Amino acid sequence: MKVLLTEDQLQQAIRRMAGEIAEHYRDRPLTIVGVMIGSIVLLADLIRLLDMPLRVELVQARSYRRNSTRPGPLVLNLDLLSSDVRDRDVLLVDDIFDTGHTLWELVPQLDELGPASIRTAVLLRKQGRCEVPIQPDYVGFDIPDAFVVGYGLDYNDLYRNLPYVAALESGEIREETGR
Ligand code: IMP
Ligand code: MG
Repeated sequence: MKVLLTEDQLQQAIRRMAGEIAEHYRDRPLTIVGVMIGSIVLLADLIRLLDMPLRVELVQARSYRRNSTRPGPLVLNLDLLSSDVRDRDVLLVDDIFDTGHTLWELVPQLDELGPASIRTAVLLRKQGRCEVPIQPDYVGFDIPDAFVVGYGLDYNDLYRNLPYVAALESGEIREETGR
């Protein structure tokens, strides 16, 4: 495993993102919606840097299956949303923007609930992978097309607890061969 972004680099980028977010929303009532599970570490750090009235909500998205590094079918679950987002500004927070399909499908589903606005924030954006006509509004880092783990991101449900972001090396990835 090769460290790509250190704890210090991550914290610096999150402080910058928090500044941009605070500047945009000022004191408007904001609902931050984290995409589980990958966004939880970013969410925890980001909200503590935002000195403004905000609510936190969660939705779930899954596109990876077991030990594969390529996306499988996307499954979204908005049932965890508890408060009414109608007429509120919503900021959707995810760990990484890869093909973009997760945010591309989540945004219209959230929009059906009638928020005043929807913006998106991600810690990482993978270069050369986007397959959809949207881009996140706030981005921590652009990274090369490698499979990364740590700071919330997993491989086969492991490594989310690493305080840094690292790229897995080929010997560490065991792609499902299928049957
Ligand atoms: P997208 O829908 O292709 O943009 O993928 C977004 C989701 O795929 C993210 O929320 C992650 O959960 C997962 N993902 C994409 N790339 C990686 C990676 O390099 N490491 C871990 N998870 C990833
Ligand atoms: Mg995810």
